[in-house]
Amino acid sequence: MKIAVRYYTKTGNTKRLAEAVAQAVGAEALPISEPVAEKADILFLGNSYYAFTIDPEVRAFIRSLDKSKIGKIVNFGSAAMMNSTWKKVKAEADKAGIAMEPREFHCKGEFKGIHKGKPDAEDLAAAAAFAKSVVG
Ligand SMILES: Cc1cc2nc3c(=O)[nH]c(=O)nc-3n(C[C@H](O)[C@H](O)[C@H](O)COP(=O)(O)O)c2cc1C
Repeated sequence: MKIAVRYYTKTGNTKRLAEAVAQAVGAEALPISEPVAEKADILFLGNSYYAFTIDPEVRAFIRSLDKSKIGKIVNFGSAAMMNSTWKKVKAEADKAGIAMEPREFHCKGEFKGIHKGKPDAEDLAAAAAFAKSVVG
């Protein structure tokens, strides 16, 4: 099974999650500025909320995906107050004609002094376990 991992980060939290996910499934964590050139049965996509929505770069990245190359998107993230970007990502995935895995990983992420240190070691271990369970 071919697996790709991409993330968008502003303050480093999603990158740390992406590295835990990638290590768990034997892939490389790359920023979304790196196109998904090869076929991927699973594309783990790390992203978060910024001012109540996902970043325009994440939307553009999803729209740029070649649906004939991507099996499904698996969402993960660490928004600080809101719970999940899944619906926002799904809306873009629908437009791109790409399937969305119903399961996702979410933990709290540090933001302006709240949730200090998160994602922490426990969160990273949980993200890794989630990734392994999705890959099967
Ligand atoms: C500019 C900015 C705006 C944010 N707006 C929200 C928001 O509306 N809702 C929320 O739950 N978290 C919000 N956050 C918190 C981030 O989603 C959270 O800290 C996340 O872990 C950041 O991931 P990153 O370090 O990979 O960028 C915001 C963070 C930043 C930097």
